[in-house]
Amino acid sequence: MKQSRGQWASSLGFILAASGSAVGLGNIWKFPGKVAAYGGGAFILCYVLIVALVGFPVMLAEISIGRNTQKNVVGAFRRLNRRWTFLGGIGVITLFVILSYYCVVGGWVLKYIQVYLTGADFGTGATPYQDYFVNFISKPVEPLLWGAVFLALCVYVVVRGVSKGIEKVSKFLMPCLFLILLAIVVRSITLPGAGEGLRYLFTVRPGTVNGNTLVGALGQAFFSLSVGMGIMVTYGSYVSKTENLAKSAAFICGIDTMVAILAGIAIVPVVFVTLGADGLGQGGGFAFMALPEVFAQMPGGIVFGCLFFMLLFLAALTSAISVLESCVAFLTEEFHLGRLKAIVLLVIPMAFLSAGYSLSQSAERNLNLPWFDFASGVQMLPMNAVLEKFTDNLMIPLGALGFCLFVGWVWGTKNALSEIEADGSRFRFKRSWSFLIRFLAPAVIVLILYFTLGKGQG
Ligand code: PFF
Repeated sequence: MKQSRGQWASSLGFILAASGSAVGLGNIWKFPGKVAAYGGGAFILCYVLIVALVGFPVMLAEISIGRNTQKNVVGAFRRLNRRWTFLGGIGVITLFVILSYYCVVGGWVLKYIQVYLTGADFGTGATPYQDYFVNFISKPVEPLLWGAVFLALCVYVVVRGVSKGIEKVSKFLMPCLFLILLAIVVRSITLPGAGEGLRYLFTVRPGTVNGNTLVGALGQAFFSLSVGMGIMVTYGSYVSKTENLAKSAAFICGIDTMVAILAGIAIVPVVFVTLGADGLGQGGGFAFMALPEVFAQMPGGIVFGCLFFMLLFLAALTSAISVLESCVAFLTEEFHLGRLKAIVLLVIPMAFLSAGYSLSQSAERNLNLPWFDFASGVQMLPMNAVLEKFTDNLMIPLGALGFCLFVGWVWGTKNALSEIEADGSRFRFKRSWSFLIRFLAPAVIVLILYFTLGKGQG
């Protein structure tokens, strides 16, 4: 029996939904911290180059597989070449893991919106913001409840389907996201001393360009663009044959990179000015510890704090939706389940993984869990670090490598190109794209995986 599939109602709808997937915690939560950690301008430069030379080609390859097969990621590989079905399976597993921690962090964001809406009382003490955050994430139940609320919101959207749920919501939420981001950027760059912070952000210090910068930039680029695990196959499968794929992929990459850099401009200078370079080095908790401290010292800080966490929420929601949709598409198409049934089946096991992630946030509890010992050196938040490193540094680059090899050497760039041009357009960079997907992108990924694993950073 042929299943009826969803389809984007408009070209803008697709671009906004796919940009919604790409623009997420990665852009606003991870990118500014990484720019600061890897030395400012050098990282931005490497990042932009990697997006153009590796991220864009892989994204275009993924979307073309999706539109060609009109299937979820597992079904797509099965249709094109049975022996590569496993790659789709790896994608779905990676997505499942990502969603489990994405929801927990989404829950933290909701909690912080509530805190700002109710007066931003973080208590007193020598380090109130740090204490508040650590205290909150160490609680056994409350973070889980917020995570459940976040997941429920994703389910609410995804259950409504592609055009009536995801597309409709993205068309409304993405413009809101841009407006909030612009408001924060204007606030940030008009603060006294912002020039110095901007200089810190954009100065390329030659000594900071090294293997680590490249590893960081590649992992960040794939994660941020949502490529390497089949989301773009799924979203591409809902695209009509009249859509210009190369243009859409370029737009999505452009929007994602612009938002990341704007988030850097919004965050790095204010933190730099208020707390100095040390404020930037707070890793994953950066947004939740350094920024509230910054907002507290800024005129109108409560409003901007609230806006910031709303921004983070919108970004996280539209990304989590894409992850959930990709898993749901897999279950509905491969096992002929209804959307709601598929969602329930996903959410139950995921709740356990999310709970593990959330419960492991307490430092003492972690020390008592022997299976975290292998992750020595991952400091305070082992499961957090283990899951994130597992997906960002290993699974996503491996998945992206698989896409390059599959499209470049198995399915063939010829087939992919005829799909890319199926709308009747002419793709001007055919030869460069083929070269990038067959040679350059895989070589860069292998090199960087070697670096990551070889240096024990995996
Ligand atoms: N691209 C999203 C971000 O930057 O936060 C996160 C993400 C979504 C990663 C979907 C992976 C994914 F499959």
